[in-house]
Amino acid sequence: MKILIVGGGGREHALAWKLAQSPLLTKLYCAPGNPGIARHAECVQIGVQDNMGIVRFVREKQIDLTVIGPEDPLAMGLADELTSKGFKVFGPSQAAAELESSKIFCKKLLHKHDIPTAAFKVFDDAHSAHESLEKSLAPVVVKADGLAKGKGVIVCSTLAEAHNAVNEIMKGRIFGKSGDRIIIEECLRGEEVSLLALTDGKALLLLDPAQDHKRALDGDEGPNTGGMGAYSPVASITPELRAEVERRVFVPTIHAMRREGRRYQGVLYAGLMLTSNGPQVLEYNVRWGDPETQPLMMRIKSDLAPLFMSVAEGKLSDTPIEWDPRPSICVVMASGGYPGEYQTGKPIEGLEKAAKLKDVMVFHAGTAMSQGCVVTAGGRVLGVTAIGDTIADARARAYEAVSMIHFDGAHYRRDIGYRAL
Ligand code: AMP
Ligand code: GLY
Repeated sequence: MKILIVGGGGREHALAWKLAQSPLLTKLYCAPGNPGIARHAECVQIGVQDNMGIVRFVREKQIDLTVIGPEDPLAMGLADELTSKGFKVFGPSQAAAELESSKIFCKKLLHKHDIPTAAFKVFDDAHSAHESLEKSLAPVVVKADGLAKGKGVIVCSTLAEAHNAVNEIMKGRIFGKSGDRIIIEECLRGEEVSLLALTDGKALLLLDPAQDHKRALDGDEGPNTGGMGAYSPVASITPELRAEVERRVFVPTIHAMRREGRRYQGVLYAGLMLTSNGPQVLEYNVRWGDPETQPLMMRIKSDLAPLFMSVAEGKLSDTPIEWDPRPSICVVMASGGYPGEYQTGKPIEGLEKAAKLKDVMVFHAGTAMSQGCVVTAGGRVLGVTAIGDTIADARARAYEAVSMIHFDGAHYRRDIGYRAL
């Protein structure tokens, strides 16, 4: 089986590492990949937003399965381009990807089908948003409708902050067109978890839960980021809770999407808040989570290639996925300043030494080669991931590897997995 992975971050490195182990694989490509991915796949210089370039490549190499990593190409219809030409794809169509690319579409679908989520209102002008805020109680959450590189959500503890967020999005246009319409919603409290499921639009296979750490600093302080670390499994997701989420969240969503003519094929990621009123959907992502994928891939024992193919062909069976019961944890090493401004091109030392540790994988996220050296090339640079007999063991191993790796300005949280200890 010839597989192409689209993307070049930590999530795609974890997918490439796992897919490369499949006995069914004859050749693995990644567009554009990164220096870590290059150890498992042939990286080709095609950008993730170059739909035509990717289609050309798939045709030229007669790729059997294309696995799309990030949301942008999905929202731009890459899956549709490929399937319309007869190629198989793991990843939803543009219409199905609206679950992530339009928060308003997502919230309306959830509301219509009675799927638990925060109460919300939609606005297409700043004036009515301000008016409505006058009658609201803080805290509230202000969200841009469209994609905003994971930054389109502003949690406001006061109404002044909320008015300001409305102005920045709708008048300052900090997220451009993505902020033409906004949502103002109730602020939920509780523990956040990520539950992902493979689906071909009919059958559903829930994965083990993972927990991300979205804030930049220890103790969940500081600004929101793409994710500073993750671990799996999560003890607070009991088998009963997982069954409830499957029944009340995933099943009705998949059915609703099919009825709306937007059959969903790929992995569906539910960001959930475990509130005192039960689990509520914060958001859907139409792709693997980053960094949740890193610990998930360390724990999945089943061969992913045939599983992904069965999703693409609409033949997903209910054969459960086999898991390594041991916990896994990923610590993200980021560039100094991230999620704000940061510098790139810093040489990274200690990668070889860290990679030699048992049960450790150093997944590359924002890296590049420069003069024969691996250098930093993004905000999130590495996802240092370990598996161990206990969460404490996995954690100690991951931090041991982190301590061996150095680059100028490196910043990471020291408390990843603290809720699980
Ligand atoms: P999203 O991009 O939708 O995942 O939102 C980013 C983060 O904002 C989430 O991970 C939550 O921490 C937070 N968030 C989003 N919606 C809400 C809400 N209704 N109540 C509380 N926090 C929220
Ligand atoms: N880890 C959060 C995300 O992938 O969106």
